[in-house]
Amino acid sequence: TVVALILAGGAGTRFWPASRAVRPKQLLPLVGEEPLLRATVRRVLPVCHPEAGKTAWGRVLIATGSHLAEATQALLPELPAGNLLVEPVPRNTAPCIGWAAARIASEDPEAVVAVLPSDHHVADVEEFRRVLGVAARAAGQGTITTVGIRPTHAETGFGYIETGKERGEGVRGEGVLEALRFVEKPDRERAEGFLASGRFLWNAGMFFFRAGDMMAAIRAHMPALAAGLEEIVAAAKRGPEAEREALGRVFPVLPAVSIDHGVMEHVETLSVVPGDFGWSDVGSFRTAWELGAKDAAGNVGPEKAVLLDARDNLILDLRESRGDKRVIALLGVAGLCVVETEDALLVVPRERAQDVKQVVDALKARG
Ligand code: GDD
Ligand code: MG
Repeated sequence: TVVALILAGGAGTRFWPASRAVRPKQLLPLVGEEPLLRATVRRVLPVCHPEAGKTAWGRVLIATGSHLAEATQALLPELPAGNLLVEPVPRNTAPCIGWAAARIASEDPEAVVAVLPSDHHVADVEEFRRVLGVAARAAGQGTITTVGIRPTHAETGFGYIETGKERGEGVRGEGVLEALRFVEKPDRERAEGFLASGRFLWNAGMFFFRAGDMMAAIRAHMPALAAGLEEIVAAAKRGPEAEREALGRVFPVLPAVSIDHGVMEHVETLSVVPGDFGWSDVGSFRTAWELGAKDAAGNVGPEKAVLLDARDNLILDLRESRGDKRVIALLGVAGLCVVETEDALLVVPRERAQDVKQVVDALKARG
């Protein structure tokens, strides 16, 4: 069995007006009816415990910031309250992964942890679970293990992993490879070189390790983080009050670094399992359209929308009251993304969906 740590503290501006500080990407139903975070949990439950159900929920930890805690818990009523790790302030992913690893290691350093992002889409869930099982077994042998996706273009927003030979120890024949190098978010030129070499995979942002192994890696490469985490875990042993006090005092000054830069780029021995399960990081409204269920004319949207002579559009009604009688109609338009929230309406051609951040910047400039 595996403990899943789902990272759900990220903010986002690429999905304005849907994503805001208090309603980031993982809480939104960008593909289908289910918010990405909930889909993530359901996807991983059978990996945490073969007989899904209540026992499996007990093995899921969600890490998020205090500003998102309430909304996150509300989305996951089955999650035991103690399984929500609430960071007093966001400090990027190394502190929250470290916090979870330290907590788990203090009870069972051999326990295998699967760290998963909360804001991705997976088309082939069965294959995803198989790959996770392999990665978890490799991690159980004592190497930090990642999942790698075959790159399709020279993306600069992802980490890259250089693959080596197949690994032998305990996982022979399962497709586990040596990871020779981990390079987080290279510039365009390097990304093009990686792509051309054919030896690199994209890092899917999933990490597998025994809790004690991650603590050893943090001690080696981020000693200040390790010291802070040890203080928090020691306080937790004295009780919840002491833990809260230590978190409030120590967490805000932990190094605000991603696990990718802080640890993964420096770890000596690393494994990677190539995964081919229809992975997408749902980077923009364009991707939401690509992944969505389309009608005969290629439109993605609520059934109640009136669509006349309209092709290949995305309609996202993300208002709290989206069951109400308000009518959305599109006539004679193609390739648009129409996104509605309580207080804003966005219309953007699909091809420009990447540029939505410009709206956020323009609004900021207005004050
Ligand atoms: N709890 C918590 N606290 N979660 C966080 C925090 C934080 O401070 N910051 C980010 N997260 C969550 C996000 O919600 C997301 O689920 C995950 O951690 C990864 O953060 P992103 O901000 O989305 O990272 P990224 O996309 O720039 O890069 C990472 O993912 C790529 C794949 O999508 C890296 O791991 C890359 O190497 C990787 O290719
Ligand atoms: Mg991301």
